[in-house]
Amino acid sequence: MKIVNSIEQLRKLLNRQVRQRQTVGFVPTMGFLHEGHLALVKKAREENEIVVMSIFVNPTQFGPGEDYATYPRNEQRDAALAAEAGVDIVFMPDKDEMYPRVGDIQIFPGKQAEVLCGASRSGHFDGVLKVILKLFNIVDPDRSYFGMKDAQQLAIIETFVEDFNFRTTIERVPTVREKDGLAKSSRNVRLSPKERSEAPVLYEALQLGKKQLEQGKEASVVEHEVAQLIENKTSGAIDYVALLAYPSLQPLTADSEEAILACAVNFEKARLIDNVIVKLKDELPCSE
Ligand code: PAJ
Repeated sequence: MKIVNSIEQLRKLLNRQVRQRQTVGFVPTMGFLHEGHLALVKKAREENEIVVMSIFVNPTQFGPGEDYATYPRNEQRDAALAAEAGVDIVFMPDKDEMYPRVGDIQIFPGKQAEVLCGASRSGHFDGVLKVILKLFNIVDPDRSYFGMKDAQQLAIIETFVEDFNFRTTIERVPTVREKDGLAKSSRNVRLSPKERSEAPVLYEALQLGKKQLEQGKEASVVEHEVAQLIENKTSGAIDYVALLAYPSLQPLTADSEEAILACAVNFEKARLIDNVIVKLKDELPCSE
């Protein structure tokens, strides 16, 4: 496995002559790797000749007061895990390599970024799209792999790719969980032991909500009951519990085929997000 820090080096490794007809699968990450990230690598490995992973804690997607400075980092361990998982090239640029100057041009996602995490993390998805645009231009992947854990991010990136005709396809990978159901996340290490023991309630509550929706319960009642359960059984502060059409992230209508039931909960030092996808039957209720 090769580790490269500069854009120029990476481009040399991936130029068309070197690449020949080999397909490139790309896994963008912010590091502190866990089995969730490695599931993306596994799929990329199965489907491509060359697998590239980026590890870059992207400053532009963190707001003031968010955890950019304290985001967990461990480059050596990440490199070992990436190598073991079969990554061919790890791209680990520093901040100046990716952002040598303050860029003038901003990218704004549309309506999909106004809800869920976008509502409370102003500018977050602008920063995600900025770094993804740069990474797609640098790597020029055939396929790019994203986790359903960050379902809103994935939906926005799918729209970005469609709207701006990127060459890459976007591949969705299901959320990898701990045995007790907690979605794996680099931020889980920041939970206190008590919070860690409460955290599986998020997924329990979402699953219960999913079941209720499948049984035809009304959307607003389900949202309320999921929120109640999280509030009663954890010490976290709920940011949102919401049911929306997926991937449009607009309110449900009679035509919606798939919905997302998502939540975000702020614990003392970690914000946790999770979601489940619900297939809608014809007679399911709308959100109004
Ligand atoms: P990061 O949080 O490191 O996640 C990198 C990728 O791993 C994302 O596509 C995310 O959805 C996926 N992932 C994380 N936890 C997962 C889990 N438990 N199961 C399955 N997939 C999981 O998301 C980012 O970084 C950044 O926003 C990035 C896209 C790299 C842009 O900076």
